[in-house]
This record gives sequence, C-alpha cells and structure tokens, in this order.
Amino acid sequence: MKIGILGAGAIGSTLARTLAAAGHQVKIANSRGPETISARALENGAIAATAADAVNNVDVVIMSMPQRAFEKVRSLVTALPEHTVVIDTSNYFPQRDGVNPAIEAGEVESVWIQTFFERPIVKAWNAIGTVPFAENALPEGHPDRVAIPVAGDRAHDRDIAIALISDTGFDGYDAGPLEDSWRQQPGAPVYCTNLRYSEIATALAAAERERLPKRRDLSVAVFAERFGPGVNPDAATIVRISRALQM
Ligand SMILES: NC(=O)c1ccc[n+]([C@@H]2O[C@H](COP(=O)([O-])OP(=O)(O)OC[C@H]3O[C@@H](n4cnc5c(N)ncnc54)[C@H](OP(=O)(O)O)[C@@H]3O)[C@@H](O)[C@H]2O)c1
Repeated sequence: MKIGILGAGAIGSTLARTLAAAGHQVKIANSRGPETISARALENGAIAATAADAVNNVDVVIMSMPQRAFEKVRSLVTALPEHTVVIDTSNYFPQRDGVNPAIEAGEVESVWIQTFFERPIVKAWNAIGTVPFAENALPEGHPDRVAIPVAGDRAHDRDIAIALISDTGFDGYDAGPLEDSWRQQPGAPVYCTNLRYSEIATALAAAERERLPKRRDLSVAVFAERFGPGVNPDAATIVRISRALQM
C-alpha cells in the first residue's frame, strides 16, 4: 500500500522502518523538513517528505505525533479523500500535550480527535511502547505474538489497520467502534502490557474508565522516578511495570 506517516519520532520512524520492510511504499514527514529525518527511519526504503507530500496520493495516512501538533496538520488531514484510511497512534498526556478540557471532562480521546479532524480515524499502535514495538515483533502464528487493539467506526478502516499491524509483526485485535476506545487509553490493562490475542478481550472488558487518568499519571511518575523523564528502559521492564500498575 501507499502510506504517508506524519511524525518521525519514536513511533513514526519505527513504523516507517517496519512497514517499508514489509514492502509498502512509505513516505514520512516531521515538522522540520525532510532533510532532518534520521537515516534509521529511512533504512528500509521509506522516503523523507514534507507533510503535504507525505499525505498526497496515499491509501493510508498514519499520524504519529503528539496532540499539541495536531493544529499544524489539521487542514491537510481534514482535506484528505473520504476513502483514505487515517490511523492515529497518539495518546493524551496532559503533562506533555497541555490540558484538553473536553478529554478532562470525560470525552474519549479518539472521539475528540475524530471530531477535530472532521473525518473518520482509526486508533492503532497507541497501546504498545516503542521499545517493545521495535523489539518484540514475531511472525504470524507464533504463540507468543503480541496483540495490538484497533478501534474505529468503519470496519474497512479497522481491517486495513489490522493487516498493517500484522505486517509489522503483531496481531491486530478488532476492538470495535471509537466510542469504546477509552478501553485502550493510557492506564488501561491493555496499554503497554504486551498481551496475546487471546488475552485482549478480557483486558478490554476489565478497564475501569474513572481510574484510567490516575493510573496514567501514576505510570508517568513511576517511569520518570526510576529512569528519568523521557528515558525508556528495556521492553521487558516497560511491560513488567505497566502490568503491575494497570492490570
Ligand atoms: N513513544 C511511544 O512509546 C509511543 C507508543 C505508542 C504511541 N505513542 C504516541 O504516539 C504519538 C507520537 O509519539 P512519539 O513518541 O513518536 O513522539 P516524538 O518522538 O516526540 O515524535 C513526534 C514527531 O511528530 C513530529 N511532528 C510534530 N509536528 C509535526 C507537524 N506539524 N508535521 C509533521 N510532523 C510533526 C515531530 O517532528 P520533529 O521531529 O521535527 O519535532 C516528531 O518527529 C504520541 O501521541 C504518543 O503518545 C507513543
């Protein structure tokens, strides 16, 4: 497929590498210009582009940036053709993104994003840490393959996201409409806990909405205290701590 990625940071550059390695035609953009995109992001054939070029004439757009950057790409994304599949990897962290009053009042993060961009979006890859995503890929059918939940209002969009997730070495799990996607937000049992496909339904059902922000903030504090702000430990440690706090 032809894929444009907006955001060339931790998760965007990993997606560019893995999707290009799987044979997709990938373009990737950041905020500063194509010449600043890392060689590592491009090592499997992804092409560095401007944001406008990245989303032009593609089947799928993946937004992989913090919410505070959304305003800058709003007109580009809103103007995409109806049939383009737009997948968003973002999570809301008020410490990083600034306070979003609607989400603080209880609106589902991705429902707010879908309204903001005035078009259907799919929530995927939000619930796996970059380090496990880069290190824990396994072939289809492997008993230890990690699953990633996918939510969205159009079944066809969810199917595309699930297929791309499989191409990156994980099982996509159809988690249904966006309205239910609070069950995969930060603080939830499926968030960064590397569960198998057979474990996802139980974990989604176990999510407790009012506890998610408390557990999200607790998790941010625990990781910052143990490893320093913004520092990622190894994949096994991320999963162990996330399970202890959220399951
Ligand atoms: N890190 C994780 O483990 C992880 C896992 C799953 C989901 N997520 C979520 O995915 C999102 C991205 O996370 P991240 O860790 O990859 O963030 P990051 O490392 O900070 O990267 C963000 C990227 O967005 C780019 N960007 C900002 N404004 C842009 C614009 N106007 N046009 C194009 N690109 C723009 C930045 O460009 P510059 O490089 O030029 O600044 C940067 O490349 C976040 O919401 C995060 O919560 C993260």
